Amino acid sequence: MKYAIETNDLSRKYGDFLAVDSLDMKIKNKSIFGFLGPNGAGKTSTIKMLTCLIKPTSGTAKVSGYDVIKYPNKVRNKIGMVPQLVSLYKDLTARENVSLCADYYGIDKNIKESRIDELMELVDIKYAENKLVKHMSGGQKQKVSVVASLVHSPDILFLDEPTIGLDPTTKMVLWDLIQDLNDDGHTIILCSHDMYEVDKLCENIGVMNKGHLVAFNTPQVLKDNLMKEKEGDSKKDVLNVGDSEPKLTVELSVMVENWLSDEIIEEIRNLSFVYDLRSSYDERGRLTVDVDKFSHREGISDVIAIILKGGGLISSISTTDPSLEDVFVDLTSKGVDQYGF
Ligand SMILES: Nc1ncnc2c1ncn2[C@@H]1O[C@H](COP(=O)(O)OP(=O)(O)OP(=O)(O)O)[C@@H](O)[C@H]1O
Ligand SMILES: [Mg+2]
Repeated sequence: MKYAIETNDLSRKYGDFLAVDSLDMKIKNKSIFGFLGPNGAGKTSTIKMLTCLIKPTSGTAKVSGYDVIKYPNKVRNKIGMVPQLVSLYKDLTARENVSLCADYYGIDKNIKESRIDELMELVDIKYAENKLVKHMSGGQKQKVSVVASLVHSPDILFLDEPTIGLDPTTKMVLWDLIQDLNDDGHTIILCSHDMYEVDKLCENIGVMNKGHLVAFNTPQVLKDNLMKEKEGDSKKDVLNVGDSEPKLTVELSVMVENWLSDEIIEEIRNLSFVYDLRSSYDERGRLTVDVDKFSHREGISDVIAIILKGGGLISSISTTDPSLEDVFVDLTSKGVDQYGF
């Protein structure tokens, strides 16, 4: 099976309101897929259709090879879900909640307890297994929710904003877990507003806006596309005059705390990966260097090496390669007609 998820013209209305509009999307098996989009874009509605919690108004979707309308029970056995809002029984303990879930999936009694122990230890929540859910913190509840979703070893795990409100350490525990699960062959569908998280974990991302899928690609390609577009916009760039192809650059900005000789500045300017150098430079100051995008690692390293060799004391370094956050803002500010595929 090549795709864990395939949707075809998938739509969902609430009354007259079209929350998901003709979604066509294929998510590769055994990949980590990031689902982005502003509040109200239709991500949770899509996930609810794929996890058989709500029915599509029209169109079809296959999850793990099964049609969500024809074979909802087959789908349910293949998937795990950590919902946006934790849905645990508040008057039961953490362990009782997970145990109920295991029974729902018919987990063999002989392996059930050890499986629960193993998962609770994995996310570090075993210490609170006998706490009532209503007495738990948000992060603790989220961990229990993750354990409950994994108890039947699902092929596909849906996580709807799993790290929201978690402290940085707990977040990292969850990121490691997501990576480990993926290494073990699980497909992960991750809905998130955390661009760093998505960039770090996901092979492909889809961006939804107002019910439409407005982009679907790898994080790097989306960033590169934005970069090309921005380059295209900035025709004023003196570097590009006379070039048929605009040069793609990363802007490197270096704060130097002491004086650099003209020879050093010239040496940087003459590097083959450097297209331009500007300096607001007196006793100390900022050097801004446009480095070739496709050789920026070598270019940046060379610039820094020359500054250090020339006795420069560097106090800060930054680059303006676009972030996934820039991509998000760009795509979702355009409305629904711009397809970044
Ligand atoms: N049960 C419902 N009844 C009516 N409208 C709904 C219902 N659920 C969602 N909607 C509407 O559908 C749209 C999409 O909502 P959805 O929850 O799918 O967005 P989302 O992308 O998950 O947003 P968020 O990032 O805020 O979680 C919103 O405009 C929302 O108000
Ligand atoms: Mg949502």
